[in-house]
Amino acid sequence: MLKPEIEDGDQGLADPQFRADVLAGFAQAPRAIPARWFYDRRGSELFEAITDLPEYYPTRTERAILEQACPEVATLAGRGRAVVEFGSGSSAKTPILLRAVAPDAYVPIDISGEFLRESSRALSAQFPELLILPFEADFMHPITLPRAIAAVPKLGFFPGSTIGNLTPLMAVDLLRAMRASLGQGAMLLIGMDRIKDEATLVQAYDDAQGVTAAFNLNLLARINRELDATIPLDAFRHRAIWNDDRARIEMHLEALHDIAFTIDGRAFTMAGGETVHTENSHKYGPRDARILLRSGGWTPVAEWTDPDGLFALYLAEAQPVRPAP
Ligand code: TRP
Repeated sequence: MLKPEIEDGDQGLADPQFRADVLAGFAQAPRAIPARWFYDRRGSELFEAITDLPEYYPTRTERAILEQACPEVATLAGRGRAVVEFGSGSSAKTPILLRAVAPDAYVPIDISGEFLRESSRALSAQFPELLILPFEADFMHPITLPRAIAAVPKLGFFPGSTIGNLTPLMAVDLLRAMRASLGQGAMLLIGMDRIKDEATLVQAYDDAQGVTAAFNLNLLARINRELDATIPLDAFRHRAIWNDDRARIEMHLEALHDIAFTIDGRAFTMAGGETVHTENSHKYGPRDARILLRSGGWTPVAEWTDPDGLFALYLAEAQPVRPAP
């Protein structure tokens, strides 16, 4: 018997976890779907387009900070490390770090395998001497790194303020898991978006060209495609809301009027004005950021920001694991 290959967009061969998360997400109150499901092929491409938008300041700001900070990072981290990037995507910012640090190996981790292999290929053309070990995984789960780099101290790289997509409690869990996966003597270079005026924040997640809207709505298209669903896409609009109490941007998909549809044979209804919560992007002030890192088992050692204080980059070292008393 031939085994069918599972591919993005192949109807009827959806990830069972995707089906379970979507069915549960539409059944619960308030409705919510884990953000990891944005990143099918099309979603990953739309996300790359977001990073080029004039309103989306984080990417270009962090890149400028990296250009300035990476030589110092190299000095502080020292030679002979392996760089491990969590959620590497297109690895767009990675060359800045790799050029400065000249690591022994580079391990990009991403959930989108096809995308991961393509960007690894492009990177190996740019760094022909570098050992690149792509790793297809959801970095939210504990990771056993390739044996080839077991003896090498690690430099974790977690740019893009991806940490902000988790609630603070989950961010602490992830930082602790990263410390465990990266091991003794590890360091972490992590980007965090800062709290700023509401208009700047909201526009970054609701651009004039509607790319972020397309990114958000692609989730519904993916559900229709992969889970045999009948969601009317034109009955939804993209919303970006600043939740000041929780210091986060929330992305929602809002039903414009009452609708009924099925997902995998199950019936659902939504009233006009009701939403599906699809993403959070938490913002951290300077003190918030340092508390978060320490809570997650990392001691901040250096901090860089842009002249306008829009975005911050932190270098931290793993707190030593103390033996039980
Ligand atoms: N972590 C980044 C941020 O929160 C990038 C990101 C993740 C994002 N999901 C997104 C950007 C959805 C726009 C829309 O800004």
